[in-house]
Amino acid sequence: MPVVFLNTGLPLVRNISELPQDNYGRGGLSHITLAGSALHVLKEVEVWLQTFSPGSRTPIHRHSCEEIFVFLNGSGTLYLASSSHEKYPGKPQEHFVFANSTFHIPVNDVHQAWNTNEHEDLQMLVIISSTS
Ligand SMILES: *[C@@H]1O[C@H](CO)[C@@H](O)[C@H](O)[C@H]1NC(C)=O
Repeated sequence: MPVVFLNTGLPLVRNISELPQDNYGRGGLSHITLAGSALHVLKEVEVWLQTFSPGSRTPIHRHSCEEIFVFLNGSGTLYLASSSHEKYPGKPQEHFVFANSTFHIPVNDVHQAWNTNEHEDLQMLVIISSTS
């Protein structure tokens, strides 16, 4: 079947396994940008596929993007400190996440995703608004 290219020179159909993978120097992480500005000329959102090996996690961080996680495989813990109504973030709350669950990160809330399952990778889609 011929590969169809958009007028941007980008192919319409892409094989996820052939997309560039990075770990940003974090052991146990695999990050693939499925859709974003560089490869897909999306302006408003990015879609990432992230896989965390058992025990690995994101740093504790916050940002002004809108963000939602869609958990595809495994299970783990999401730490979220709500700051939406307070000047300083509160104590992080623990939330159990599992395959086929979603988690919404309120804008600017401090959060951390952690694969606390010793036996399985935690895999999720991240849908995040582009920083502007
Ligand atoms: C996830 O939920 C959808 C909707 O109920 C269901 O069709 C699907 O089988 C579920 N997948 C898993 C892995 O549980």
